Amino acid sequence: MRAGPLRHGLLAAGPCGASTVRAPLIARKLAEQFRQPRGLFGKLMGFLLSRVNRQANEWTLGLLDIRPTDQVLEVGFGPGLAIQKATTMASQGWVAGVDFSATMVQQARKRNAPAIAAGHVDLQYGSLSSLPYRADTFDKIFVVNVIHYLPEPIPGLKELWRVMKPGGRMALFLVAKEDIAKKLFAQTGVLILYTGEEVVQLMVQVEFRRARFETGRMKMIGTGICALAEK
Ligand SMILES: C[S@@+](CC[C@H](N)C(=O)[O-])C[C@H]1O[C@@H](n2cnc3c(N)ncnc32)[C@H](O)[C@@H]1O
Repeated sequence: MRAGPLRHGLLAAGPCGASTVRAPLIARKLAEQFRQPRGLFGKLMGFLLSRVNRQANEWTLGLLDIRPTDQVLEVGFGPGLAIQKATTMASQGWVAGVDFSATMVQQARKRNAPAIAAGHVDLQYGSLSSLPYRADTFDKIFVVNVIHYLPEPIPGLKELWRVMKPGGRMALFLVAKEDIAKKLFAQTGVLILYTGEEVVQLMVQVEFRRARFETGRMKMIGTGICALAEK
């Protein structure tokens, strides 16, 4: 996957960095469903996410360097596709996930039912703002396409830092500001858009070490950023 520098601040941004372009109501509904899939439309959203974001999830997991015995956490697992893949990587470890969409928890639990039954995976309904785990629990943490939807990213990043073991590693994927800004659903004020440099700055504020990012071209969603950091 190609890695390279990203340009800074290409887009005019409104409050909280969200674009101020007026978008139709349907775009806002779509953005809200991406943020927290709900009901029947949310179920369809799960189907869509599992196709559109597959490459981004695989790339992110590849950069995370998961070892067979690792304790792994994903926050915002959506339909649970990456949980499945992480389970094969942490084959003698344990994989946990937290998501605040009841619809996604149901879908992901169904997809990962055998691993859950075997005690290899645990998927919980909950929020990034208060993760149901003790400090210093996880070797690896990943978060894909979630940071755009956090009104306040710093408390969430602090929570990830808290549950990560010293020496643990995090991978945080997002779509690059200049690419996601072209989508109508991103012009609704629901999302906050970031450059790789901006995400790295947030990680540094939370005292993550060795924060850096890579970029890669994702076929269906444009330029992806994977920000990596350690505790
Ligand atoms: C756009 S979807 C991405 C799903 C999946 N990671 C993917 O790449 O396809 C965002 C997911 O994160 C979850 N989410 C968003 N904010 C969250 C929060 N603060 N705490 C827990 N889950 C959250 C949503 O419910 C949704 O399932």
